[in-house]
Amino acid sequence: MLSSIMAQETCSSSSSPSSSSSNQTWSYDVFVSFRGKDTRYKFTDHLFAALDRSGIHSFDDNRKLERGKDIWTELEKAIQKSRIAVIVFSENYADSEWCLRELAKIMECKQNLQQIVLPVFYEVSPSHIQSQKGSLEKAFVSHEGCFEVDEVKRWRDALTEAANLSGWDSKDDENRFESKFIRKIIEDISGKLNEFAHLTVASHPVGIESRMQELNKLLNKHSSDVCMVGIWRIGGIGKTTTAKAIYNQLQRRFESSYFLENVGEIAKQSQGLIYLQNQILSSVHVNDNSKVEVVDKGTTVIKNRAWCKRVLVVLDDVDH
Ligand SMILES: Nc1ncnc2c1ncn2[C@@H]1O[C@H](COP(=O)(O)OP(=O)(O)OP(=O)(O)O)[C@@H](O)[C@H]1O
Ligand SMILES: [Mg+2]
Repeated sequence: MLSSIMAQETCSSSSSPSSSSSNQTWSYDVFVSFRGKDTRYKFTDHLFAALDRSGIHSFDDNRKLERGKDIWTELEKAIQKSRIAVIVFSENYADSEWCLRELAKIMECKQNLQQIVLPVFYEVSPSHIQSQKGSLEKAFVSHEGCFEVDEVKRWRDALTEAANLSGWDSKDDENRFESKFIRKIIEDISGKLNEFAHLTVASHPVGIESRMQELNKLLNKHSSDVCMVGIWRIGGIGKTTTAKAIYNQLQRRFESSYFLENVGEIAKQSQGLIYLQNQILSSVHVNDNSKVEVVDKGTTVIKNRAWCKRVLVVLDDVDH
């Protein structure tokens, strides 16, 4: 009878999206930023092919830039419209003004639109990119001679931030075989996209907007504390439908989100609560397959994993 929406926003580093981002719609699943000279005919070509085969819609500048249009404006638009940005760092990535402009734009979209950013370190070590020494230092010195100091600083900052994100390293022993490496990347991207898949609401929705507005007033989105809202009314009135609609609207603002269906029914079954806890855990900590087996322990594990994350959980059909 009750749908419960819990929104936890405890990470001070995660800013609230600006109002312009609240209506953000994505045109692409993935934007890949790469240095053509290093990887266009090798790794990135295989990556695009694998994305295609998996039905993941990517922006490929080779195919999609319309001739005669301002290329940077088109690229900028494509970055902004991509749910995930994959940055393929390679030896000469920072030599290119274009790559660095893309990178700075991507980090801006991460901040303002909660775009997911995933770095790939292709035949370069993360520490090499993070340190910005050697060939990177040279590249930046050369850029400083041609571009505004502030602009180059923005590029440097974006590079440092991106290189410190968790990503994939082609130099890891387990990633030496390129096809296997790419398969892993695709699996990870698919998992992330599935997390953000929209729930189907009613086929002909009526009056959902006004209900969502009411709910939005109750969810204090700028609070840094845990926020919980319950929807409680008679059966069949549209609680689940409203909760799904609000979940679709809010989920991209969170690092993890989960819509748990039939909570009341499942919780009554033996092992039901553990099942539900594991569902929440799987979304909070995507790369960790560990499972809990005892309810009391599950409560602690969820707290430990989720305390510093922005998490949205909807528990549908809760009876008490
Ligand atoms: N705003 C709406 N516009 C059109 N159809 C709606 C709307 N809200 C609900 N419905 C439809 O009404 C039916 C019942 O809605 P829903 O399952 O959301 O109700 P509920 O309150 O969650 O019910 P229960 O208490 O049984 O869980 C569904 O078929 C749903 O698609
Ligand atoms: Mg319901």
